[in-house]
Amino acid sequence: MTSIKLLLQRQSTPLLTTPAPNHHHLEQILAAGMRVPDHACLQPWHFTVVTDNGLQRLSDLLVQSSDSESANLTKIAKMPFRAPMIIVVSTEFVHHEKVPKQEQLIAAGCGTHAMQMAAVALGYGAMWRTGELAYNAKVKQGLAIKEHDEIVGFLYIGTPGKEQVLKTPKSFENKVNYWQ
Ligand SMILES: Cc1cc2nc3c(=O)[nH]c(=O)nc-3n(C[C@H](O)[C@H](O)[C@H](O)COP(=O)(O)O)c2cc1C
Repeated sequence: MTSIKLLLQRQSTPLLTTPAPNHHHLEQILAAGMRVPDHACLQPWHFTVVTDNGLQRLSDLLVQSSDSESANLTKIAKMPFRAPMIIVVSTEFVHHEKVPKQEQLIAAGCGTHAMQMAAVALGYGAMWRTGELAYNAKVKQGLAIKEHDEIVGFLYIGTPGKEQVLKTPKSFENKVNYWQ
């Protein structure tokens, strides 16, 4: 797949199964996440790679942290098993005179996107999710994320569970103006 096709056909893969990226592919995905625009080279992010028994640990953490009704807890418990690998992307904000937190959050978001694209380029599928538990203090604590940092996303990665229909491209006509 050419780079431009990868970008123009980007879409999420909600249904993911095994195999997860192998060690070499995971290293490439993480390296792509590191190679993003980053004002002052602060690297204000952290990646927690969750696989195998880690999925159960994450499931337990989500359930224990949630104050949902029990019916919903069953749904929450299953969430991490939607893919064989999850990369939890969080910020590691750095105090910097010229780089506000907003820019650091964007850089961490770029990393999430880059990892999704790298996963797809390597033949996997991926989906970026958050949900209210991404903003839950106990979840952050359980993942050793500092109180003042943010979970940017849970990047679910695996092998596409079924062949995907390519979505129709979105028009940019109403989103662009030109100064000439
Ligand atoms: C920060 C962020 C958080 C997201 N959280 C969720 C989520 O919790 N659940 C969900 O279904 N989609 C979520 N999405 C959107 C999906 O990743 C996806 O982009 C969307 O379903 C549209 O599908 P597409 O990527 O194939 O265009 C999130 C996207 C971003 C950028």
